[in-house]
Amino acid sequence: MCGIIGIVGTKPVAERLIESLKRLEYRGYDSAGVAGVVGGHVQRRRAAGKIKALEAVLADDPLVAKVGIGHTRWATHGGPSTRNAHPHTAGRVTLVHNGIIENYAELREMLKGEGRSFDSETDTEVIAALVDFELSGGKPPLEALKAALDKLSGAYALAVVIEGEDEFIMGARKGSPLVVGYGDGEMFLGSDALAVGPFTNRIAYLEEGDYVAIDRHQARIFDVHGQPVLREVRQVAASAALVEKGNYRHFMEKEIHDQPEGCQRTIAAYVDTLTDRTAIPGGIDFAALERIQIVACGTSYIAGLLGKYMIEQLADLPVDVEIASEFRYRQPALRGGSLVIAMSQSGETADTLAALRYCQAKGMQSAAVVNAAESTMAREVDVVWPIHCGPEIGVASTKAFTAQICVLTSLAVAAARARGRIDEAEEQRLVRVLLGAPRLIAESINLDSAVRAVAAEIAKAQDVLYLGRGPMYPLALEGALKLKEISYIHAEGYAAGELKHGPIALVDEQTPIVILAPFDSYFEKSASNMSEVMARGGQVVFITDPQGERQAPAGARVVMTAPGSDPLITPLVMSAPIQLLAYYVALQKGADVDQPRNLAKSVTVE
Ligand code: M6R
Repeated sequence: MCGIIGIVGTKPVAERLIESLKRLEYRGYDSAGVAGVVGGHVQRRRAAGKIKALEAVLADDPLVAKVGIGHTRWATHGGPSTRNAHPHTAGRVTLVHNGIIENYAELREMLKGEGRSFDSETDTEVIAALVDFELSGGKPPLEALKAALDKLSGAYALAVVIEGEDEFIMGARKGSPLVVGYGDGEMFLGSDALAVGPFTNRIAYLEEGDYVAIDRHQARIFDVHGQPVLREVRQVAASAALVEKGNYRHFMEKEIHDQPEGCQRTIAAYVDTLTDRTAIPGGIDFAALERIQIVACGTSYIAGLLGKYMIEQLADLPVDVEIASEFRYRQPALRGGSLVIAMSQSGETADTLAALRYCQAKGMQSAAVVNAAESTMAREVDVVWPIHCGPEIGVASTKAFTAQICVLTSLAVAAARARGRIDEAEEQRLVRVLLGAPRLIAESINLDSAVRAVAAEIAKAQDVLYLGRGPMYPLALEGALKLKEISYIHAEGYAAGELKHGPIALVDEQTPIVILAPFDSYFEKSASNMSEVMARGGQVVFITDPQGERQAPAGARVVMTAPGSDPLITPLVMSAPIQLLAYYVALQKGADVDQPRNLAKSVTVE
């Protein structure tokens, strides 16, 4: 969850460390720090809070070093203070870490027994102390690092500098990603391609258990057994360029508005516009599949749930969707003939990756729907189904969600055709419907001013309920998740049919109830739920389409009317209103929309 950068440069590196950390802030923003080797001595600068706090520290006390490491933190062990900020130092060793060391308490006790003391509450400081312990036993730096790694259990990506060593940085990875960047007379370590993107596009991905030493000219990489290995150096896409907000106030606002284009690009990759047929890359035989297992977390899980509704209904192909953190530990019963699909914007989410690997170990075919084309998931699956919405920076996922739905909708149509559930003419009709989605999404983003008007009222609420039936149920979950994470208002999404089984007890005049009810086969039942809620004083925000607006019972506090659409793409069209609602409520509350408290964009620890 933290971001790491290391540079062995030919000129001072402080500014470039900061530039890279800004790109990595999506991984965490509780504190930040840098360290450089100057004349053989290691100097550190650290600050609690975001990178700009570290910039202020550096402005007062510059760091002039040509070899340096940097870190942006999402706190796990120890609060978000300067004392707990990375880099951590012990003796000659200073390092930054992404991951969690599970046996750190035990190691800490062992090291205390050796007379060592600790300044922070972190697990990371223990790694520094352990490497220093090995160094002081007389081992050279790389051997000391390897000896320390062999004692760690848990996950780590590390960048390490050593007092007295002006010319190199060491790194290691297990469970958390680390890349080596090959520059022109300079070398880099980074959490991902984005981190080293401003400096080079030539990258090698370290594999599990690898450790490395970089100097200005080369990387010496060793595998988990200590054997020298070569890892392929790839040229990565320029999409690593720093994304700008343009005229928008926040990345989230921009990304909501990016959706028509992101969906259009994504759909274009999964259909053939000359024939209006689906064209799914990867050669999966949907007719032969007995079952699909989707594993994911957060918003990606909710997209997967929508996929289940669509694939089962259209293709009569059973789909199980499960939260990856549960799936990976409960020993699920898996059978042959199944395909696992990992859904993940980042392609790095630790639980999703572990669930994917679990399925692969059981012999399942694997696919990943990811935004980060160079991510670990993308590299480990049989088939990659990328989304093409561009980098998503806002912590609250928006355009990745709708692009994921575009992929799943295409898969549903392709599977339906392959399994003989629809004929070619119906496939072509559905593809044309899908191709029309970006225009309707753009229209539904135009609800912006209606949403803004209701946001001020919702911002006063303590709790908000979201209700929906059929595909609107996952969307109710997504609406509640978006509101919770960026406005800090407690919200719950329910299947509207569950209302009478408990949640209706929450209904009172203070609790806004957002009902998602386009005029589809569920409409009458949703309208009845609306009446039941209003009869108990509930303040209903009714999100519907033109026909639903005409047929809805009178008395809603607010009606928002999205464009009418074929049921195939209604979830895409209804997404923008709930995203905008969360956005404007968060603005009302003055919350930090793009970097909400306690969260990080990419959750690479379990
Ligand atoms: O990168 P992933 O799609 O695997 O991330 C999964 C969740 O962490 C993510 O969707 C999270 O729930 C978002 N903050 C929701 O807006």
